[in-house]
Amino acid sequence: MTAESGRWCAPGAESGEDQPGGAEPGEPPPPPSSPHRIVVAGDWHGNEEWAVSVIRRVPHLLAGESQRLILHLGDFGIWPDKPGQVYLDRVSAALAGAGAELWFVDGNHEDFSRLSKLDASPGPDGRVTVVPRVRHLPRGYRWNWHGLTWLACGGAVSLDRAVRTEGVDWWPEEEITAGQEAAISAGGHADVMICHDCPSGVAHTFARPPPEWAAEDLARNDAHRRRLQRIVDAVMPACVMHGHLHRAYRRTCDFGYGPVKVAGLDTDNRLRNFAALDVTTMRWDAGEGWFSRFRRGSAAG
Ligand SMILES: [Fe+2]
Repeated sequence: MTAESGRWCAPGAESGEDQPGGAEPGEPPPPPSSPHRIVVAGDWHGNEEWAVSVIRRVPHLLAGESQRLILHLGDFGIWPDKPGQVYLDRVSAALAGAGAELWFVDGNHEDFSRLSKLDASPGPDGRVTVVPRVRHLPRGYRWNWHGLTWLACGGAVSLDRAVRTEGVDWWPEEEITAGQEAAISAGGHADVMICHDCPSGVAHTFARPPPEWAAEDLARNDAHRRRLQRIVDAVMPACVMHGHLHRAYRRTCDFGYGPVKVAGLDTDNRLRNFAALDVTTMRWDAGEGWFSRFRRGSAAG
């Protein structure tokens, strides 16, 4: 991989130098210390074995990094009852063993009843502790790393809503609301957006949907992707990364305001589910070929 091909997000990252505490007036404050490299992952779906296997790789992937962080793109696995808690406890223990933290945006397959209660009591930095070392980034949460503003914007539509039960394995809060769209858009520009859903301006070809996916949910999904695109158009990030589609790819898109680097990651049990990213230069450790070899998949998970 050449340095140029590895550069993922150019605007605002050209200097590539660490600028701790360098936020301009009015910008979100930086965390106490900003990482240089992080691991980005998505769509673990409460798969404990896979989650722990990825976490155990973190000390190697982030060798030399004092603050080890996994940034998770949703469908991390907030789930009800004892199985949900067991998963969280074991992930938390694995993170402790790896000396790491995990921050996640919500996906669509999350227990939003539980998440909403937790979100009512964010920490002083705005992040929400779920269990030790696991923190939720609410929709609209912003932070600054090395002069770049990052914006969390989780949420997506469950296309298999028709075979799910509200409050048991489906929650209406999976969707970004009109009010959230307005508030996030009013927050202005961010350099990097981390999402679960994929904005509608990023073209994808999907296989024929399975028969259990209702037409109304397919329409709901399309409308949600358009809503996310409107947020992107308002925020005008130079970089967008997301999960949900279960395909690893990297592409430059034109949404009418300049080039936007878009990256997606594959789902659990697949090696292209995670990658290391240098957040000072916005270069992935993985090259273009790593991202582009995705299979034709279903529309969303
Ligand atoms: Fe999803």
